[in-house]
Amino acid sequence: MAEKRRPVILDCDPGIDDAVALLLAAHAPELELLAVTAVAGNVGLDKTSRNARRVLTLAGTEVPVHAGAAGPMFGEVVTADEVHGADGLLGVPTPEPAFPLSEGAAWDVMWEMALAHSGELEIVATGPLTNLGIALTKYPDLPEHVKRIVLMGGATDFGNTTPAAEYNIYADPEAADLVFRSGIPIVMCGLDVTHKAYFTQEEIDRLEALGTPQAVFAAKTMGFGVEWHQKFLVPGAPMHDPCAMMYALEPELFTGVRCWVGVECQGRHTRGRTVTDAYSDAKSPHGPNVELITGVDRDRFVDHLTARLAAYGTP
Ligand code: RIB
Ligand code: CA
Repeated sequence: MAEKRRPVILDCDPGIDDAVALLLAAHAPELELLAVTAVAGNVGLDKTSRNARRVLTLAGTEVPVHAGAAGPMFGEVVTADEVHGADGLLGVPTPEPAFPLSEGAAWDVMWEMALAHSGELEIVATGPLTNLGIALTKYPDLPEHVKRIVLMGGATDFGNTTPAAEYNIYADPEAADLVFRSGIPIVMCGLDVTHKAYFTQEEIDRLEALGTPQAVFAAKTMGFGVEWHQKFLVPGAPMHDPCAMMYALEPELFTGVRCWVGVECQGRHTRGRTVTDAYSDAKSPHGPNVELITGVDRDRFVDHLTARLAAYGTP
């Protein structure tokens, strides 16, 4: 008998890598993608909520897309359009949305769907965690109904936005702090693993050679990252957000460690840093709250992600 599809919400800020994560989710037989919730991040909310619908149109499917926060719970808006381009998708040709934005704020939809699928709902979060932070504040009982959060964010020993902080956490540390302290089981796919989950230029060329609109889009958007990430000594384009989605789909490709992770919100140099006791003898009195993903079987990751995009069918 076919496995029951797992109910999932993707909370994202598309964003070139969010877009690939969305293509994976939209076509994954394991998942029932209940909704996509958009948040301001890489680019503004107007663009992220439109890009989510553009990418779903490219995927040939219609999933309710709900707008969420237009900025962090506190602090200044920090975008990443230098990486994702002014439109958020590097100007790569992408269909116009075939359907309108759905009514209902992201945090309200998260609550409603958590109640409707109590204990089963998974949230994959690939942008700043503002929508979840607001949902946790408005609905204190949310943790009782959410099975887990698989998120792309953080890092144990370096940042990509400041020397100390990865973008998704840095963009809204207070929201991230609420999420990491919520008690909801968290899987954290930070830079430790996403910098290992890269595609080389040859593998990106192989993706493009598939010729399907979805594979060509992924190659054209993610290919940008090969050169960009050389300064991080990564020999290819890290698939940050697709890594979190692939964990949700195929956790056996990954390794990790249970540990405590906290979010620094005050540090002059360290605001937005995820602090962990994973590699410390001094364990946090708070106890482990995160499955910190640190390793990936990269060859299988590349092959399986490529196969999932190829499964969209012939060009
Ligand atoms: O640090 C990488 C993360 O920041 C990814 O989610 C990317 O989309 C950007 O939001
Ligand atoms: Ca993102």
